[in-house]
Amino acid sequence: MPFRYHPGPRDPGTRARRGAFTTPHGRVETPAFMPVGTRATVTGLTPADLRALDAEIVLGNTYHLLLRPGPEAMRHFGGLHRFMAWDRPILTDSGGFQIFSLAKDRTITEEGARFKSYVDCSYHHLSPELSIAMQTALGSDVMMVLDICLPSTADDAAIREAMDRTHRWALRSLAARTNPEQALFAIVQGGLSQSLRAESAAFLTQHPFDGFAIGGLAVGDTRAQRGEVIARAAELLPEDRPRYLMGVGTPPDILEAVACGVDMFDCIIPTTLAWQGTAFTSTGRVRVTRSEHRLSQAPLDAACGCPTCRLHTRGYLHHLMKCKEPLGPRLLAIHNLHHYLELMRAIRAAISEGRYARFMKDTLAAIDRHEH
Ligand code: GUN
Ligand code: ZN
Repeated sequence: MPFRYHPGPRDPGTRARRGAFTTPHGRVETPAFMPVGTRATVTGLTPADLRALDAEIVLGNTYHLLLRPGPEAMRHFGGLHRFMAWDRPILTDSGGFQIFSLAKDRTITEEGARFKSYVDCSYHHLSPELSIAMQTALGSDVMMVLDICLPSTADDAAIREAMDRTHRWALRSLAARTNPEQALFAIVQGGLSQSLRAESAAFLTQHPFDGFAIGGLAVGDTRAQRGEVIARAAELLPEDRPRYLMGVGTPPDILEAVACGVDMFDCIIPTTLAWQGTAFTSTGRVRVTRSEHRLSQAPLDAACGCPTCRLHTRGYLHHLMKCKEPLGPRLLAIHNLHHYLELMRAIRAAISEGRYARFMKDTLAAIDRHEH
């Protein structure tokens, strides 16, 4: 069963839209949030935990899995779904972002990238073809093209060069695909320049990609700056295919991008903050490691129905974090992902009922109230 996007109801007051996509591993309702499972695990959570949270899709990273365990191991285990025992959809990022954020000693040519592994300091190659070969070995439901993601502060000439090369690499990725069951999304680049973004969208949308991502954001830009780029870029992407905003994701970012017509999100914030002891709650962020929570009998969030909030006190979570017990971050990660997935469920309900504008305004105001 090949990938297919199914449009749903639209919100009358904004550009927000409901929809779904179907993949060989099942269906994903949009707007969707994808928990990040970089190294074949959403750190500390089992597939059963993710199912209990009703996560419909997770993200994996080609870059990390290429370095370890590598493509031969992935073929040996029959792909990422079997390897990590997750039978719902998986989207894999291409490695384009990590080459810039993680790789040392990198050289980038038209052919591809050569860089030093953070695992064992050996040298590796990544090209559009190698990224697709690895994503084919992973067997992900949605593959991403290898792109070049520069910091938002890079100069115009560098942003243009990276964008043009990203376009050539996108076509090489399309040509390298061998399994028609695996969808392939292109990535719009162009930094903070509206004209380059428009050029990127115009180029990529002429080609038969299954969906389109907006990349190169949250890399040194402000929320207002990326908001403008997202609004304009989303408008230039086709109605009949999903739109994915890569790596951007505080709740206000998501609320605003949904209003621009974005369908898919991923972000490490809910899981990374959990490991640092911070929870997202209906009354703002809670740093559970603070001494004020030591004797608290209250749940993290009285309005939350997640397993962590149903069973545990802030005082217990405080204790676990202070003792560096692995259960602490695990319970916080379960709560934070529940918070994000509930937000997405509320967003989808509001769109279906044609009241997204009001919902966004009220939710943003509530977040603002608690954060100041
Ligand atoms: N994750 C967050 N931003 C990006 C991007 O620009 N490209 C890729 N490949 N992944 C990302
Ligand atoms: Zn909770």
